[in-house]
Amino acid sequence: MKRTLNIDTIKKINEQILLKGWVHSIRTHGKITFIDLRDATGLVQVVFKGALDLKQEYIIEVIGEVKKRPENMINTEIKTGTIEIKADTINILSKAKPLPFPIDGDGYEINEKHRLKYRYIDLKRERLKNNLQKRFETISLIRNTLKEKSFIEIETPILTKSTPEGARDFVVPSRNFKGLFYALPQSPQQYKQLLISAGFEKYFQIARCLRDEDPRGDRQPEFTQLDLEIAFPESQDEIMNLIEKLFIKIVKELFEDKYITKIPFPKMTYKEAMEKYKTDKPDLRKNKNDENELAFIFITDFPMFEWKKEHNKWGAMHHPFTLPQEKDIDKIKAHPGNILAYQFDLALNGFEIAGGSLRTHNVSMLEACFEVMGHSKEEIKKQFKHYFDAFEFGIPPHGGIACGLDRFFAIAFNEKSIREVIAFPKTGDNKDLMINAPDKISKEQLKELGLK
Ligand code: AMO
Repeated sequence: MKRTLNIDTIKKINEQILLKGWVHSIRTHGKITFIDLRDATGLVQVVFKGALDLKQEYIIEVIGEVKKRPENMINTEIKTGTIEIKADTINILSKAKPLPFPIDGDGYEINEKHRLKYRYIDLKRERLKNNLQKRFETISLIRNTLKEKSFIEIETPILTKSTPEGARDFVVPSRNFKGLFYALPQSPQQYKQLLISAGFEKYFQIARCLRDEDPRGDRQPEFTQLDLEIAFPESQDEIMNLIEKLFIKIVKELFEDKYITKIPFPKMTYKEAMEKYKTDKPDLRKNKNDENELAFIFITDFPMFEWKKEHNKWGAMHHPFTLPQEKDIDKIKAHPGNILAYQFDLALNGFEIAGGSLRTHNVSMLEACFEVMGHSKEEIKKQFKHYFDAFEFGIPPHGGIACGLDRFFAIAFNEKSIREVIAFPKTGDNKDLMINAPDKISKEQLKELGLK
């Protein structure tokens, strides 16, 4: 007999069927056993005459007949509440030890370390299942929408090279070249620009990014960006409009309970935001107690450079590839602190959910920006050879943006932490408690890598 899914039982009244799933709960009334059987499509009630050695979370198969419930027994809380299964046979497919914590509530009251250690059990929870389902639907909508707009999704390397993009790199030792290291990408920034130079005029990627930073509620060492880049943008507005339309579509199609405070999204310069709100990610919700309000705002005109006290030199406020709003290279070199950039962030309810810019495509300008940040011409040409080479072979004006999807999901799902929207997140000190990473490696592995 072919398996029937729980949700389809209501279409099979008086038919003999085979069900497979988990024992969600079990009760006995005299000699009758009632089981709530759970599968990916939901719950169904199974009734069995006789005793059974079943426990919660056992995985079973049930052969029986679908019966309409009498009017007074209908359960409106579940989709299959108008029927029940009169079981003839129940076979155990897998037994289960008692769970370390309950899975029926939202789970917020359970110690998070405990939940993360047994994440595969925690993920049985409906709240987390729904989060991952909605995450998938949103990413599908993004992919479909961008495909319709002639974007192409291209994967870029995970084993790459350390670059000064801001955070600390995770590095991977090379076996073939002892003493040399790959770095894991902090973002596909350089690759996407090189794809533009190759003539992919509209690129995007649902990209995993890795940064060795101390995590907090809105930060993980590995996180997911919607990364995109276009050639020949008319202005930075074209990129902002594209992202704005995409978020409006996502909210309208997938988050019916939510409403956006203001459309078109308001725009404010960095200077104005700092003067008025003392932050570059102001929370512009009209009612901060309302969890369905989404207040997007673009912050524009960031300074190109900022003085990095810890290094005693100028650094890029965003990254070195951002286009300055000043064509005179001498002025840039003389007064780096006065130069604004074609750079914009998107903030949502007080969180930065995206950052983007127009890029410098002129080689002398790019050199000047690196020089302001204290890199000699020789050093730049060595470390960014590929990049400068590519630019010298011709690159169109271009620009793009990257959205922190985990942050968006946390806000859209009313979660306090991005850990609640990621299947296997890391703890505050960058550990995977379930799989126990990071971990030691064997002496043989170390030797092979030429490490002590
Ligand atoms: P940026 O570094 O601003 O830009 O990153 C873009 C967006 O990614 C999210 N984000 C994070 N989310 C979770 N955990 C983290 N550790 C984390 N770090 C960043 C934020 C942020 O706005 N290459 C450029 C983009 C570009 O210019 O196209 C970049 O990565 O929501």
